[in-house]
Order: sequence, then C-alpha cells, then structure tokens
Amino acid sequence: MIYPIVIYGDPVLKKQAEPIKKGEPGLDELIRDMYETMENAHGIGLAAPQIGKPVRLFVVDASALDDENVKNFKQVFINPEILDEGDEEWKYEEGCLSIPGIKEDVFRPKVINLKYQDENFQPHTEKFDGIKARIIQHEYDHLEGVLFTEHLSAFKKSLLRGKLKDISQGKLEAKYPVKVFHKKK
Ligand code: NI
Repeated sequence: MIYPIVIYGDPVLKKQAEPIKKGEPGLDELIRDMYETMENAHGIGLAAPQIGKPVRLFVVDASALDDENVKNFKQVFINPEILDEGDEEWKYEEGCLSIPGIKEDVFRPKVINLKYQDENFQPHTEKFDGIKARIIQHEYDHLEGVLFTEHLSAFKKSLLRGKLKDISQGKLEAKYPVKVFHKKK
C-alpha cells in the first residue's frame, strides 16, 4: 500500500519516535509499505514518521543514485542509535520527500558508528561513511523530530521561511500523494 507522504508542518514530523518491540504486529507489512511508498516517490530514504507513524524505523534504497559505492545500499533500520560520529564534516545537497521543492547543502559528519536492528531484529553495529552515512543521518534525524532545514544557517532559514510556510499550507508540487496538516481553527 502506498501511503501519502506527510508534509512539513505536520506535528508528527517534530515528534521523537518510539522504539519498536520485537514481534510488533504488522511490522513486515509496514516495511513493505514503506518500500513501496518510497519507490513510488522516487525517494532514497523514508522514515516511518513521514507516513504518519512515529516509530523508530527507516528504509533506504540508494540504487537511484548514480554512484557505484551505494548502488546496492538497500536496507531496513530499526531502533537505530548513532554511537559516535567522526569530527570531519562535509557538505552535500539534501532534499526531503516531506519538503518538496527545497534542496540545500547540509554539513554533517562524514563517518558514523551505528547500532541498529534489521528486519529480523538481528542486532548490528556498523561503521558507515560518505553517502551511506549521509542518508542514515538524514533519516535518523526524522526519528528525532528533526528536519534537514534545521541544520541550515539562521540566514538560510530566514530566506526559506516563506517557502516553508507555503509548503505547510499545501502550496507545493509533488509527483506523489501527500498529506498536508490542517490546523484546527
Ligand atoms: Ni527526509
């Protein structure tokens, strides 16, 4: 099932997501739906809050990126925890399915050490770098209620304020189904 993507302005994107317990009913289906939703939107990563589920799960599929190093990077991350990050930062242009039409350079650590569980709840501790670390950090942020625009400078943020407000009110173009939050008056 393809879910609509929750758009900037919805409080679910600002929430800290909850851990997932082993044996959680419907988890396999949720993972399948997340892959389907991500593929339909041509995304390279999707976190559960982006389909309105505040749980600690994200999926990635970087095969769409024209990059030899990540073309087989297709993976499920459950209850991820960034154990440590390298000191070196690099910038890369990021976008987000929840913020259509905005792309900005974001600085992030180049290397991370990540603890997580896979779809079978097998625990892993693994070092990631480059684009893989980049995608993971972006998706991990979603589980903490953080969006990539929050990493931008105060000046950049002020330039984007109007555009973000428009997006939150549904003035946006997306080639996939979206869900815009409507404040109760
Ligand atoms: Ni995102």
